[in-house]
Amino acid sequence: MPNSDALLEIEGLRFRWPSTRQDVLDIPALSIDRGERVFIKGQSGSGKTSLLGLIGGINQPQSGRISILGNTITQFSQSQKDQFRADHIGYIFQLFNLIPYLSVIENITLACRFSRLRAERALQKSDSLDQEALRLLQHLQMDNPDLLAKPVRELSVGQQQRVATARALMGAPELIIADEPTSALDTDTREHFLQLLLRECRNSNSGVLFVSHDSGLENAFDRSIHLNALNHAASSNALADDAAAGDSPC
Ligand SMILES: Nc1ncnc2c1ncn2[C@@H]1O[C@H](COP(=O)(O)OP(=O)(O)O)[C@@H](O)[C@H]1O
Ligand SMILES: [Mg+2]
Repeated sequence: MPNSDALLEIEGLRFRWPSTRQDVLDIPALSIDRGERVFIKGQSGSGKTSLLGLIGGINQPQSGRISILGNTITQFSQSQKDQFRADHIGYIFQLFNLIPYLSVIENITLACRFSRLRAERALQKSDSLDQEALRLLQHLQMDNPDLLAKPVRELSVGQQQRVATARALMGAPELIIADEPTSALDTDTREHFLQLLLRECRNSNSGVLFVSHDSGLENAFDRSIHLNALNHAASSNALADDAAAGDSPC
């Protein structure tokens, strides 16, 4: 039975892409608490993005159960999954996926167009959705009016990343998923960005699943999960405990 106190529960999850014969993921069990901040690492091709897509309800596993906030999303229809994601998950994609023909503010408030719940929560913090978008941008240190007037495609990578982050944070979703959002940034900017993101997540008690190659960022998290590529690992268990202190079993 799903535990509604947990943020995320996974049981017996197996996933492979239709074009591949081998499983990409084989996760017997994983549980994440509400508000917990988890760092996910693993070499390229180990299935990090696939796992985030499963949790986000974008991919469907061959078997197993994924529950978020006590809802077994693996039993949902695709439209139920899409609505659940809109209501409860802020997704920062690796390439940010900003909509080029929308302004900075429109990109950020977009999350609330698909979710009344997120809109209502945003309006508990500010008088309008635009004001809440501005408040988040200010916290992310990107509220310069000249930047706000620019088409999003003319923003730098770091600026686009902040817009994508503000969009994910709008309406305080319970789970923030971030897929290597720092990969195009230099080290100092990465750490600064991470601190801003984690501070905002703490403010709204959002849990975080943060994928990165950069183990230098790992210490900022409550826990690390090491994802091994099945085809590279000796074990058939895709999720392996790291021997390093701070890593936790799933
Ligand atoms: N859309 C897709 N179709 C088929 N295979 C895919 C697709 N996306 C990823 N893969 C394969 O699944 C495996 C895991 O990929 P991915 O989850 O992107 O890994 P990571 O994010 O850890 O680099 C890789 O072998 C990759 O080639
Ligand atoms: Mg990836």
